[in-house]
Amino acid sequence: MPHAVYPGSFDPLTNGHLDVIRRSAAVFDRLTVAVVVNPQKREPMFTLEERYAMLTECTNDLRNIEVADFRGLLADFVKEIGADVIVKGLRVISDFESELSTALMNRSLSDVDTMFLMSDARYSFVSSSLIKEVFLLGGDVSSYVPPPVLKMMNARHKKLRALRPTT
Ligand code: PNS
Repeated sequence: MPHAVYPGSFDPLTNGHLDVIRRSAAVFDRLTVAVVVNPQKREPMFTLEERYAMLTECTNDLRNIEVADFRGLLADFVKEIGADVIVKGLRVISDFESELSTALMNRSLSDVDTMFLMSDARYSFVSSSLIKEVFLLGGDVSSYVPPPVLKMMNARHKKLRALRPTT
């Protein structure tokens, strides 16, 4: 019964992430989508609770998925829950460069391998940070994030605008 872990910041969840989640859920018996508590990249747009909620809502049709959160080392979390494999998506060559060392370190720390799915070509240029940048500059990101996530982004943007001084 292979149990896989798909870790990430999911700030926000994109259609690229969702594609990897759906394809992984079809291959592994059980998939834990693991949200890192403190993303190392800048100030997050969404809280842990909001990222958790978007993942839960967008995967509620998949029976073998659970959403969890972790802090600290991924290798420790994987050992703690007894998972067999880590899953990651690979978009472009530059992903490979950083993922290679990460996968080797994680295997060295936990004895758990990382398996990679090639991103769907439709999403090979989609990243959470790019989505946030385009969105905050007024671009249309509706093709790249699931509808519930777009709704949350619009709500967040409205709140930010309301807080902004008018002078
Ligand atoms: O979606 P992201 O931001 O690309 O996901 C990165 C993530 C969460 C997978 C990575 O930052 C991670 O594994 N963080 C946990 C800390 C850790 O284990 N670091 C050592 C990696 S060898």
